[in-house]
Amino acid sequence: MKLVQLVYFSSVVGGLVQDDIQSLLKHAQQKNSAAGVSGLLLFSNQHFLQVLEGPRTEVNTTYYRIQNDKRHRDPIILLYKDIHARDFCNWAMSWATDVKIKKEIYFRYCSRPEFLPNDLTGESALALLRDMKEFVS
Ligand SMILES: Cc1cc2nc3c(=O)[nH]c(=O)nc-3n(C[C@H](O)[C@H](O)[C@H](O)COP(=O)(O)O)c2cc1C
Repeated sequence: MKLVQLVYFSSVVGGLVQDDIQSLLKHAQQKNSAAGVSGLLLFSNQHFLQVLEGPRTEVNTTYYRIQNDKRHRDPIILLYKDIHARDFCNWAMSWATDVKIKKEIYFRYCSRPEFLPNDLTGESALALLRDMKEFVS
């Protein structure tokens, strides 16, 4: 079974609050566990950046559901590739927000020390998500 990684970003719709994100996450974790999908979701500056990894069919199916979700809009795929090992195998879907993240991490990959997803390439988005691992909950 081929493993793949998919990274996209999107814009938040309306006033999504912490509680909404927590329940979204709980449901996502249950579904991902059952599907063998792992990853990380970052919420910052009114954007989501998410990496999904796992068996190709399951990652594709999960992304098709996510892209039709009305809680965000304009999803843009930054990266889709075959992998030989997962980067986020400890998490059915981990979660990071700005609260704990050091601004210098954003500055490593963006033109200013803030989360600017349009500045990212596929590989720099993945590198940023890997750096987020120490801040996840
Ligand atoms: C930013 C964002 C990230 C999401 N991530 C996941 C995910 O990793 N896995 C998942 O199954 N659903 C995820 N969802 C939810 C799906 O879009 C969809 O609502 C859910 O999978 C539908 O579940 P259901 O078929 O049980 O109704 C996400 C939604 C948003 C807005």
